[in-house]
Amino acid sequence: MAATTNSASNGISILDLILKKKQGSALTKEEIEYFVQGVVDDAISKEQLGAMLMATVLKGLDDFETTCLTRAMMNSGEVMSWPEKWRGKIVDKHSTGGVGDKISLVLAPILASCGMKVPMVSGRGLGHTGGTLDKLESIPGFSVAFNTSAMRSILEDVGCCIVGQTETLVPADKKLYATRDITGTVDSVGLISSSIVSKKAAENLDFLILDVKCGKGASTNSEEEAFELGTRMVNIANGLGINTAALMTEMTNPIGQAIGNALEVAESLSCLHGKGPKDVMNLVYQLGGHLLSRAGLKETVEMSCSMMEALVRDGKAMDCFRRMIIAQGVAEDTAKRLCDPENDVWAILPKAKHVTGLKSDKKGFIHEIDSKRCAIASGKMGAGRSKSGDVLQFGVGLMLQVGVGDAIDKGDVWVNVHHDTDSIPVDVLTELEQALVVEDQELTSKNESRVMKVITSSLDMH
Ligand code: URA
Repeated sequence: MAATTNSASNGISILDLILKKKQGSALTKEEIEYFVQGVVDDAISKEQLGAMLMATVLKGLDDFETTCLTRAMMNSGEVMSWPEKWRGKIVDKHSTGGVGDKISLVLAPILASCGMKVPMVSGRGLGHTGGTLDKLESIPGFSVAFNTSAMRSILEDVGCCIVGQTETLVPADKKLYATRDITGTVDSVGLISSSIVSKKAAENLDFLILDVKCGKGASTNSEEEAFELGTRMVNIANGLGINTAALMTEMTNPIGQAIGNALEVAESLSCLHGKGPKDVMNLVYQLGGHLLSRAGLKETVEMSCSMMEALVRDGKAMDCFRRMIIAQGVAEDTAKRLCDPENDVWAILPKAKHVTGLKSDKKGFIHEIDSKRCAIASGKMGAGRSKSGDVLQFGVGLMLQVGVGDAIDKGDVWVNVHHDTDSIPVDVLTELEQALVVEDQELTSKNESRVMKVITSSLDMH
């Protein structure tokens, strides 16, 4: 089939497209659709696909090209369909990935308890820490494999589900990502945006909130990079008819206290009991507040936050979480015990064999807890994967005992390390010893809410 890509088809050939992009020209909608069809049909040789992706990374894609690429990718597979009566209520959140990021586990049931429908298709972690699906799979019995029809019935009964990507959802992304991974072409704003937004667009959403992480523990380290990625995704998602905003949020320090799969499930349960760390709850309410006020449920972000707080307080959000995990395979009794505040969750969740506290070697004030180093340390203990297929240790990870801005004495435990090996591995200790930044002087400013910027757009490119 590769021959068709070198000879003109509808006047277009892949070689022409490579040359055009190499010169820095913008591709047309038809050219982009031709390219995506070639990817799906395996009609483009490996060499030409690699060359096309590299030209795209080097010369970039503008908003219109990115929107065309996203739409063509979305249409390469199934676009989910939902009952008409749900229109206006179908919502989701996506995060570009953070350390200790358990927001989806808390936010999805809160949104469901507000009457929203949340068909969350999520990912596994490929990196130092597990993804949302890995965290949920630490609950015995939890399954992530559901087709759209099964999702529809969970959404009808419960209002939210958190599932894995099916074979039929955006097949073009799977093929493109596999090549990007081995050709050094992952880091392109246009390619990342189209990859993320095409999968959310295939969920056929009405409203979307994006959490674009910024800092050491994020894929976008600088404010400029995060803002560029957020703006691009907001523009293309709105261009596809999904009412979308993004919050750019701080990711230099870990989110909450827990890093590690089962540890983060336990912290999420605390959040749903109304006892979660302040920064986690702030982030949950800010993301949910912006989403719900855009969806017109309440007039303002603040009013939406108050409604969510009330639903956590009276147990309705936790009830949605319990019913969601039962619908996704967890035994009723297990779910009941897991969600009961009187019960010890560690009678159900997998626990690491040992817990060891690490002490600060300095007195002062905490200026930073390097989330990247914390993630690397957790990954080395088995909380994440270095290659796809690696088996995770669900119980291992870190429980921070202090936060940024806190005073600390020499000898105070700043982190409890949950490990399966007899002692903490030396390379894990080395990372953690460098993660805590203690200074003599008090920290002057602290961003309690983690939100750095709100990114919205009125761009409409239907
Ligand atoms: N996440 C995705 O889904 N795609 C990318 O390209 C990068 C991050």
